Amino acid sequence: MSFYIAGTGSALPEKSVGNDDLAAFLDTSDEWIYTRTGIRRRRVLTHEKLNDLAILSARRALEDAGVAGERVDLILCATMRGDTVTPSLACVVAEAVGSHAPAFDVNAACVGVLYCMEIVDSFFAAGKAETALIVSAEAMSKLLNWEDRSTCVLFGDGAGALVLKKGAGRLAGVLSTDPDSHVIRMPHIEGMNSPYNQSEPQPLCMHMDGGEVYKFAVNAMGRNIAEVCRRAGIAPAEVDWYLPHQANIRIIDASLRKFKIRKEKVLTNIAEYGNMSATSVSVLLDEFARRGTFRRGDKLLFVAFGAGLTSGAVLAEWNKGAE
Ligand code: UT7
Repeated sequence: MSFYIAGTGSALPEKSVGNDDLAAFLDTSDEWIYTRTGIRRRRVLTHEKLNDLAILSARRALEDAGVAGERVDLILCATMRGDTVTPSLACVVAEAVGSHAPAFDVNAACVGVLYCMEIVDSFFAAGKAETALIVSAEAMSKLLNWEDRSTCVLFGDGAGALVLKKGAGRLAGVLSTDPDSHVIRMPHIEGMNSPYNQSEPQPLCMHMDGGEVYKFAVNAMGRNIAEVCRRAGIAPAEVDWYLPHQANIRIIDASLRKFKIRKEKVLTNIAEYGNMSATSVSVLLDEFARRGTFRRGDKLLFVAFGAGLTSGAVLAEWNKGAE
């Protein structure tokens, strides 16, 4: 017995910024961004707090699952950075939903939700929990250099959540790291207040070698799909729905090409939201779940790659409402 997905939720900032809006202050164009990435627009935080979006997405997922906050046994947040270094975002969510369960953040960049799913699987297998809340939330707009056209056009902000319950659903999972601290890197604000600090402050924004990440991504997505299917004993063609990390439509197409998957099985929302890091797969899941896309027993394959360099895939049957 492992987990099944019992509920989903999401919450996005109000402001939608189109490619043409970016072209007003950057040397770029809708044509370049759309043809190279598949992105048309993205949501950006203005007056909202990331923590509030995380809490709202959590409440929506709990309501969808019919689970009260105090009944949750474990809360995990996939994020690179909540609004505070401490308390963790998971503790902020726990307070808001009235939970005393263990709560901690997981930073595995864009693969965070998949890492959380596998941690939940281990807690369930060890008999330490039966209901878990996974929240993902990213404020990418606050981490970017808005003068760097090769990175700032790619990302968006948002939050998503899943409630997992003990039961039949997860078929297999695979996680890995190909350690590389250079191709995607974002320094912390460092020692500003320490009288002993001797290191030079670094600009607080993302640096990325897009070409290197692209090559890694195509390879890692393909490798993880093949491995998770092997572990579950099924062929990639038997998967009903692919939910890939939404970084670049060309990466999604290139990594799936060799499996000859029908296009309708590959779910995307990158045109609307860009790359929301850890939050991409959870918002994608919530949107398609609420449209009634999935039928009981459908096989869903989540696959992602990210800074670190992390990657992974989780294969699970859609058994919502199974109890
Ligand atoms: O979650 C993980 C996060 N990261 C990723 O997923 C990134 C993976 N990489 C990519 O998605 C692609 O490599 C990019 C979308 C970042 C870039 O696409 P590309 O086809 O690899 O373009 P490129 O880097 O080879 O750049 C081609 C040209 C360059 O000009 P020159 O040197 O040929 O004159 C860039 O300066 O496009 C230029 N360029 C732009 N032009 C207009 C780069 N960014 C832009 C822009 N608008 N926004």
